[in-house]
Amino acid sequence: MDLHLPLHPGTPLSVQIYRQLLEAVRDGTLRDGDRLPPTRELASRLRVSRSTVTLAYELLVADGVVEGKVGAGTFVRSEARARPTRRAPSGAISPRPEWRAMVLPEPAGPRRVTFDFSVGVPDVTLFPASVWSRLVSRAARDGAEVWNYGDPRGSEALRRAVARHLTIARGVAADAADVMLTQGAQQAFDLVGRVLIAPGALVAVEEPGYPPVRALYETLGAKVAGVPVDGEGIRVDAIPSAARIVYVTPSHQFPLGMRMSIPRRLALLAWASERDAVVIEDDYDSEFRFGGRPLDPLQRLDREGRVVYVGSFSKVLAPSLRLGFLVAPASLQPALRMARRLGAWHGPSLLENALARFIQDGTLSHHLRTVGRVYADRHAEMKRRLERHCGRWVTVLPSEAGLHLAVELKPGLSMNLAALCRDAAERGLRLRTLADFSAAARPREGFVLGFGAIGTARLGEGIRQLGTLLATASRSNRPAR
Ligand SMILES: Cc1ncc(COP(=O)(O)O)c(C=O)c1O
Repeated sequence: MDLHLPLHPGTPLSVQIYRQLLEAVRDGTLRDGDRLPPTRELASRLRVSRSTVTLAYELLVADGVVEGKVGAGTFVRSEARARPTRRAPSGAISPRPEWRAMVLPEPAGPRRVTFDFSVGVPDVTLFPASVWSRLVSRAARDGAEVWNYGDPRGSEALRRAVARHLTIARGVAADAADVMLTQGAQQAFDLVGRVLIAPGALVAVEEPGYPPVRALYETLGAKVAGVPVDGEGIRVDAIPSAARIVYVTPSHQFPLGMRMSIPRRLALLAWASERDAVVIEDDYDSEFRFGGRPLDPLQRLDREGRVVYVGSFSKVLAPSLRLGFLVAPASLQPALRMARRLGAWHGPSLLENALARFIQDGTLSHHLRTVGRVYADRHAEMKRRLERHCGRWVTVLPSEAGLHLAVELKPGLSMNLAALCRDAAERGLRLRTLADFSAAARPREGFVLGFGAIGTARLGEGIRQLGTLLATASRSNRPAR
């Protein structure tokens, strides 16, 4: 092992080596039975004579801390350690105030999860692992360049493939030069925030909405205003006039599920034009659409270059790949590129090139059709079961895309949903309430139920158990805790 042994002028070198090794044994850095480096090797690394190291080792042997074994080396003796392992000091430094109180609502964590209604997770058992591993190993053999530093925007091949896919499948107006690959959509939000948000700037987000974006922009120094949504999407008339950035989920409002109507899209763009504002369009899961025609993305309707379109392969393929992208107007590209260069530089070229092939050879389209059918079944089954088992207490909110459904308590009903979630957790159900996605003083009451992590055949039983919990909660009428 390469021990860190700094030497300074003054004290004899053998004494310095002896003291540092002694301390390393005492504080547990070196453990019972560890072998000290051979004297010749350590002497050459420290640029001292071998006799200096030998002397230090002899002092340690005399102390009974190490022992020499003929032909094998010098070892730490088992009785030598006196004190517990060294721990880092607890710290005299603190993060900036924005980071101190920052928490994200996490789902109640049952010890044993039987029905995982987590939101935003795909069914990772559907991941095409064998095709993927073939493509990764092929990308690894493609040439040495894949192992080098690369373009901050990411692999050229994947940027071309993403631009083409977005143009054909989503109606986004883009070519490779407009695309920057990111590590998930979240990094795209971070990059856009870093190049646009001045301290104290006002950012508008949907209410209810996606907590990681609100939290991110607060940590970047923004003031974040929640803007209510209605059946057509964000209420443009309620966006504060001082906002210069608006974050929206037009294809599938997160978490309620409706899509933004065309008049509302046009109104938002007109608003942005009047106020010289930027719109961040988060299109995180609408590859899975189960009804209704897809509408033109804001990015396509935008005539001025005010929209940054953000997407992700987290739902389509797997969240752990951390592969997402943004499509930004040319005026933002140089700053975004520099922000990426100064942050993570770029993403994993190997995976990006594998994904480029995955898209180019048609495997992505095939995969989307296959898993799209599975999710369409789950979406229908979930809706049916919610209406059957929970319909007395909740209304299923209209949603024709994505991997979750939201339900709202019927008017006039009042229940302690946080307590219900805790009861659910004890029975192995992981549930999220609408309040988990809200910063409003009086959030809407209901649940957001993901169906990515529960197989179609088991959904019915999970929803039946939710119905039982709702029935009990409606009878007990506990006060909110
Ligand atoms: C609203 C929303 N946007 C974006 C994302 C995608 O995040 P990422 O690509 O960083 O995994 C999610 C994931 O759950 C989401 O719910």
